[in-house]
Amino acid sequence: MASHLLLFGLLMATCSLILASDPSPLQDFCVADPNSKVFVNGVVCKDPKLVKADDFLFRGLNVMGNTYNDVGSNVTLVNVDMLPGLNTLGISLARIDYAPNGINAPHTHPRATEILTVIEGSLLVGFVTSNPENNLFTKVLEVGDVFVFPEGLIHFQANVGHGNALAIAGLSSQNPGAITIANAVFGSNPDIDANILAKAFQVDADVVTKIQAKF
Ligand SMILES: *[C@@H]1O[C@H](CO)[C@@H](O)[C@H](O)[C@H]1NC(C)=O
Repeated sequence: MASHLLLFGLLMATCSLILASDPSPLQDFCVADPNSKVFVNGVVCKDPKLVKADDFLFRGLNVMGNTYNDVGSNVTLVNVDMLPGLNTLGISLARIDYAPNGINAPHTHPRATEILTVIEGSLLVGFVTSNPENNLFTKVLEVGDVFVFPEGLIHFQANVGHGNALAIAGLSSQNPGAITIANAVFGSNPDIDANILAKAFQVDADVVTKIQAKF
């Protein structure tokens, strides 16, 4: 009986691991057909006979993103929308540019773990574990250092060097998604009721209204 329970537990653990990331491909490739009218989990495959090398190519990650914005950073994401050959492969790539003092604000990827390496400059990076501990794991990264942000956890990067910084990140989904905490909480459409956020953040409602006005 106990061994049955153990087996059941192991099975459940294995299943949840599989369901937590993009499903494995059942064929060599399934190049996304953006014109299909059919909705599936992912994107419908283009006729394999019409697939060309260009379907597996994206050019332009050498181009710096424009960091002239409120946070001083820019993410150029190469996901399945930019590179149709990524469909069903469970992977994507990003270039992140940081102006001096720029940050990639606290955010989470609902569908991906992220592995990041610094190409230029120094970055303070961190992620926070889930309730109830909410432990902050943080590190200063130099060129060539690699750090991993586990799937779903809130994380950030800040340029703590003297000039611009540049990082490249791999993500374990063809469509990792990004939820920037400040935008989602204070910039939702329509606004979350200020009294709800006032209680959640333990501040007066007018503080919430002031923050909401900035998004
Ligand atoms: C990021 O850079 C691209 C290319 O320069 C630009 O089109 C885009 O508006 C920038 N995004 C932000 C959030 O500044």
